[in-house]
Amino acid sequence: MMGRSSTGSTGGPTGITGAHALSGVMPGKDLVNLRDLDPSVLRRLLARARQHAWALDEDPFDVGQTLRGQVVGLLFFEDSTRTRLSFAMALHRLGGRFIELTDRGSSLSKGETLADTARTVEAMGVSRLIVRAKRTDDVLEVAQAVRIPVLNAGAGDGEHPTQGLLDTLAIAEAHKRLDSLDLGGLTVLIVGDVARSRVARSSGPCMAALGARVLVAGPGMDDTIAASAGGRVSDNFAGDVREADAVMALRIQHERGGSDLDAAGADAAYREQFGLTIERARTLKQGAVIMHPGPVNPGVEVDAEVMELPRSIITRQVALGVPVRMACLEARGAVTGRT
Ligand code: CP
Repeated sequence: MMGRSSTGSTGGPTGITGAHALSGVMPGKDLVNLRDLDPSVLRRLLARARQHAWALDEDPFDVGQTLRGQVVGLLFFEDSTRTRLSFAMALHRLGGRFIELTDRGSSLSKGETLADTARTVEAMGVSRLIVRAKRTDDVLEVAQAVRIPVLNAGAGDGEHPTQGLLDTLAIAEAHKRLDSLDLGGLTVLIVGDVARSRVARSSGPCMAALGARVLVAGPGMDDTIAASAGGRVSDNFAGDVREADAVMALRIQHERGGSDLDAAGADAAYREQFGLTIERARTLKQGAVIMHPGPVNPGVEVDAEVMELPRSIITRQVALGVPVRMACLEARGAVTGRT
């Protein structure tokens, strides 16, 4: 699927040859927010993910040894399909194992704090913690409570860094920018419930850091929300759909509450105003791709028919979650140097 480039995967400024090349790549021990990372770090992570993607495309049963003998703790305190299973798959592919805890059935229900829960799992000997949380600050709280590296698997309406990286890699692949990992000259339109979207707050800034022009549209949009997603407000939605090289639709995040979008009947108005309908999809220019981080609510933010178009790369985004998370699991902080 992911075609090798004529200039190869290991040369040039973004070229790396193995997991050791990611030693010290992170400014700290944790991966909490992409906004903390320099574009050169983003490119090194993506370059390694690109290598893993090529290897998996060639041999889907390939199992590496980078995390052999290691056990990683998955702490998922909010529901997930893609992130949870692709981290699990990434661990398998690196030769590691995992143990898992959710808020259902844990001793959090008995009053144990999140920090104590994290330290308890650390004490069992895991080498990393991967944390999904309902509240934005929870991942940082865990990171500060333990000595081992912590990876943010999506925190409230804060950030979702591995999603941001995989969305960026998907655009680079679709637009044949894998060699350079430079998105200069491309326009990405992010549309939907951006105000409550941690995906937008990781994907938009990551794409912008690699040179993309990011436009943002959605209910209640203003300059502050658009800037948090790494872009500026789209003031001509229909026109920007026609001009964009990628359109990424976002669902309404009802689980976060506190928005007029949660009122009865809001879905229909959302689709009417901002949905990626088949009529709007027909206006996309040649080469433009349709994206969605999932989970999708067909018929609301994107029509089911649109998801099936050849220009939809939604399934490819899911697939790229595995190599991206492999790279993030291999990345080591400059501060601790721990494995
Ligand atoms: N995109 C994403 O985070 O999906 P999940 O909630 O299924 O992990």
